[in-house]
Amino acid sequence: TILVLDFGSQYSHLIVRRLREINIYAEMLPCTQKISELKFKPAGVILSGGPYSVYDDGAPHADLAIFDLNVPILGICYGMQEIAWINGKGVSRGEKREYGPANINVKSNSCPLFEGMDNSRVWMSHHDKLTELPEGFEAVATTGNTPFAGIAHKSKPIYGIQFHPEVTHTVQGKRLLSNFAVNICHAPQNWTMENFIENAIKRIRATVGPTAEAIGAVSGGVDSSVAAKLMKEAIGDRFHAIFVDNGLMRKNEAVQVKKALDDGLGINLVVVNAEDEFLDNLKGITDPEKKRKAIGYTFIHVFERVAKSIKPKDGSNIEYLLQGTLYPDVIESVSFKGPSQTIKSHHNVGGLIDNMQLKLIEPLRELFKDEVRHLGELLGLPEDLVWRHPFPGPGIGIRVLGEVTKKQVEIAREADYVFIDEIRKAGLYRQISQAFACLLPVRSVGVMGDQRMYEQVIALRAIETVDFMTADWFVFDASFLKRVASRIVNEVIGVSRVTYDITSKPPATVEWE
Ligand code: XMP
Repeated sequence: TILVLDFGSQYSHLIVRRLREINIYAEMLPCTQKISELKFKPAGVILSGGPYSVYDDGAPHADLAIFDLNVPILGICYGMQEIAWINGKGVSRGEKREYGPANINVKSNSCPLFEGMDNSRVWMSHHDKLTELPEGFEAVATTGNTPFAGIAHKSKPIYGIQFHPEVTHTVQGKRLLSNFAVNICHAPQNWTMENFIENAIKRIRATVGPTAEAIGAVSGGVDSSVAAKLMKEAIGDRFHAIFVDNGLMRKNEAVQVKKALDDGLGINLVVVNAEDEFLDNLKGITDPEKKRKAIGYTFIHVFERVAKSIKPKDGSNIEYLLQGTLYPDVIESVSFKGPSQTIKSHHNVGGLIDNMQLKLIEPLRELFKDEVRHLGELLGLPEDLVWRHPFPGPGIGIRVLGEVTKKQVEIAREADYVFIDEIRKAGLYRQISQAFACLLPVRSVGVMGDQRMYEQVIALRAIETVDFMTADWFVFDASFLKRVASRIVNEVIGVSRVTYDITSKPPATVEWE
């Protein structure tokens, strides 16, 4: 394992990502982590960048015990300033912030960190810079702007670089991280999803033990389906999946989920049709947050009722609740956010845990989304499910603006179906990160045949994004949009007009509510 200590850079998680891509397991912890409390012995330590100056009052500093681990250390940006600061020399505030590309010159006296690397483009994002070499270090790479773009200790495996190897703009960044992790730290390159399956199954068995049972909600999304399949592989029918059909799913989704999980993967699945209960609890509500609350509350209510009706054969109790938490959520909760560090709560399951006294089991908590997808493919989940666009828990409930009624949901669902159908036919589904239709409760005049229409409006949204924090709207051909609009107005009763949402995030969010 490579330990990544996070000093709050927006790129820290990318260090972990890049190492995983070369099959090395890396774990990120806040820079305040006490080394004596580490649960593993790392093969190497990377100190990330961060928004602070090492000389600031209250600037974060690493536990000096990292040097007693006697493993290689690499400081990136702030991490390099930190190494210089600890070694007592030479950091100054740059006159101006340096942000963007630079060319590095690798010195010819072959430092193992830069092995096989040429002079190439790197990405800079810093304010402070090194002005003097700390004791015992030498410069191994330079740029036009700094003689210390890369430094190395003369006798110990301690390195610092001013640029960010983890971002793709640094052309040979992955090579540098590989030089560090593989050649210098000798970290094993055994992080593969094939190995993960085996280990995850062993861990689930060890946690749950030989008799206890577990339950979990499946939504039809890739995370909960992959988690459920792992549970099935590990403990067979002692895992009970519950699929709550809230009546707010996409067209045919409930049937497809049942087919894929129950018939296809042999998961012990209970399907509950609770459409009426959800719609009842949504009556008269138009405020988006109140809708979310009503849907969340109803879900917990239905889930608990069904869970209690599941009686394990031998009379034992259900002890575990499966949750499809992914690594980005974990990172979010461990990343360093300065003195006022807040930990994100898993509010979506909090209620269930408290009420039912279940222990949480989270087999995917080390994985990034694309690793989960790869795992899904290895576990034999249908391609359609593995690559499905994300779908919010409240579903069409937050895609029908205004009050949610069966009729309104039906209109939004049909329009969504046509849109997605055309996206698939055009071969664009995988290129687009998320696409959907929402129903605006605004009436608009139209004419069809000789008939005057006075019906509602459908807004289409399609976005491209890496992390859903920022997003761009997808640029379709005009002919595509024309075709979709025409089909929706013709095929979906109750719609007289179609618009396409051309707002990016920020300022607009992905969902309309
Ligand atoms: P926003 O609208 O916040 O969406 O830009 C970002 C991503 O989150 C999804 N989303 C939700 N997912 N419950 C969910 O499970 C919600 O209440 C919710 N609201 C938004 C949204 O679909 C997008 O993928």
